Amino acid sequence: MTTAVANVLNPAPVAAEPGLPQADESWLDAIATNLTEWGWLNLDASNRLGPALLAQLREEVEILEKTASMEHAGVGRGTDFTRDRSVRRDRIAWLNGQTPAQQQFFDFLEQVRVGLNQRLFLGLQRFESHYASYQPGDFYRRHLDSFRGRASRVVSMVLYLNEGWLVEDGGELQVFNRENPVEVCGRVLPDAGRVAIFMSEEVPHEVLPAARTRHSIACWFRQDVVPVPLQVG
Ligand code: OGA
Ligand code: MN
Repeated sequence: MTTAVANVLNPAPVAAEPGLPQADESWLDAIATNLTEWGWLNLDASNRLGPALLAQLREEVEILEKTASMEHAGVGRGTDFTRDRSVRRDRIAWLNGQTPAQQQFFDFLEQVRVGLNQRLFLGLQRFESHYASYQPGDFYRRHLDSFRGRASRVVSMVLYLNEGWLVEDGGELQVFNRENPVEVCGRVLPDAGRVAIFMSEEVPHEVLPAARTRHSIACWFRQDVVPVPLQVG
């Protein structure tokens, strides 16, 4: 998947533009406070990321989609991995940080990772992220992003890329109360620049079916380090 992204987008990495994007101190404070208090929040990050970067990321996912470079997403890991279409229907492509836009976005995610560690002492070691594309009618049923105690995915962040999204377009992220997982405590419109952030092990959520194509980037901040490959020979 990573290879597909690199080939299709034919990257020519350049240095990130100075000054962009910025996860400043007060913004990080607000995220940390809400994560502690409620386990989740949503906010408009379009000023932080900038319209140019949002447009470039949107363009990338549109190219990946047009060139059939996205794969049906799975659920579970190892021998539990399935592509169960009754649970989720989106297609995904992993980001590798190799294009100028992804480089800038990774720079931003790194600022968030460090900022959350400073405030919440979560020991976040790294992040991973993928583009996701939901066609009309696609959904992702209620789930958690991580199982408690695995110390893998700890904080989830979803960035939406869709211009002019309306309530009647559907496709909202429905968030459930971490104390009472059948109680809906919020809905997030997947409009360009909006970001949802939540504790991966605690907050159940689901993607409601949409009436139009829905693009996002899902990111996870993880406590584990990349497994070191065994040396052979
Ligand atoms: C996920 C997820 C939410 C969204 O990919 O695990 O829950 O709004 N995505 O796209
Ligand atoms: Mn999820």
